[in-house]
Amino acid sequence: MRIGILTAGGDCPGLNAVIRAIVRSAIDRGDEAVGILRGYQGLAQSDYMELDQRTVAGILPLGGTILRTSSFEPLTENAVDRVAFAFERDNLDAVVAIGGEHTMEITRMLHEEEGLPLIGVPKTIDNDIVGTDFTFGFDTAVHVVMEAIDRLHTTAQSHDRLMVVEVMGRNAGWIALHGGLAGGADGILIPEVDTPVEELAEAVTRRHERGKDFSIIVVAEGANLAFANGEVRQVRVNEETDEYGYERLGGIGSALATELERATGYEARTVVLGHVQRGGTPTAHDRILATRYGAEAYELAREGRFGRMVALHGSEVTSVPLDEVRGIKTVDLELLGIAKRFFA
Ligand code: F6P
Repeated sequence: MRIGILTAGGDCPGLNAVIRAIVRSAIDRGDEAVGILRGYQGLAQSDYMELDQRTVAGILPLGGTILRTSSFEPLTENAVDRVAFAFERDNLDAVVAIGGEHTMEITRMLHEEEGLPLIGVPKTIDNDIVGTDFTFGFDTAVHVVMEAIDRLHTTAQSHDRLMVVEVMGRNAGWIALHGGLAGGADGILIPEVDTPVEELAEAVTRRHERGKDFSIIVVAEGANLAFANGEVRQVRVNEETDEYGYERLGGIGSALATELERATGYEARTVVLGHVQRGGTPTAHDRILATRYGAEAYELAREGRFGRMVALHGSEVTSVPLDEVRGIKTVDLELLGIAKRFFA
């Protein structure tokens, strides 16, 4: 078998671990793997790199992706035929597409409508892909947030300050909730729940009145700035959309800090963690999950079970039809309830 591997969409810690696991599994069973560069663009343009034992040596701890990535969309680029023809032209028996929710959608469409032998592997620091309990990259991002909150505590405490930490999370608040819980945040704002500024300010004031002179608030970039009068505002970098057609989010941290400073009278500062959450070496958890995903993707290819996405259910790595991977997986609000016990 000759299996192609591509990475598409935003990068994420653990991508290289998946690539390595597929390549090593293939070599182990006498199969061949080939790297497709820059996502589906590489498939449309026959832009490949050799993948053997030597090329994947030492990549397990590396963040990013040795295959590069892009937002190339076969449909909008009028490249569906070129992508479909690549299988015949380049002797590909299967392609594993590692990507986020958008990539899973493209992969499903190419499988369903063109009958292409495709398998999906879910990646994103956001952990918002339906069909799997966890995506690799998420644990690493949560660790970055936790460490940042730990570090911010010392300055917040020394200066009696309010610190607002803006984290990633466009549609779902997984990073904010888990990172905030792990770091002991005093408030967590997520896209799933609109928390009025006044309510947050009251909690901060109550906390300060009972002797705590600092507070750390974590806010997901996709959370809304909400007010008690029902006004709800989304904060964006500008009115433009990004290469995927999504709004360019960012700035909620600073907007919230301004509102909280006004409402509480406490001096506030903002920290935007941004792409730091997506970079660097994956945690042990993410390396293992990514390796298990890669091994499972190889098995699916070997068995000819196409049109599926590998998934984690509980502690078991399994797979689900790509057709079931639709929409956004939002956070467990029960966990937010537990986090709230520590807020005021
Ligand atoms: O999906 C992962 C993610 O990091 C989101 O949390 C964030 O909104 C987005 O990607 C940022 O994308 P870009 O790298 O294009 O700015």
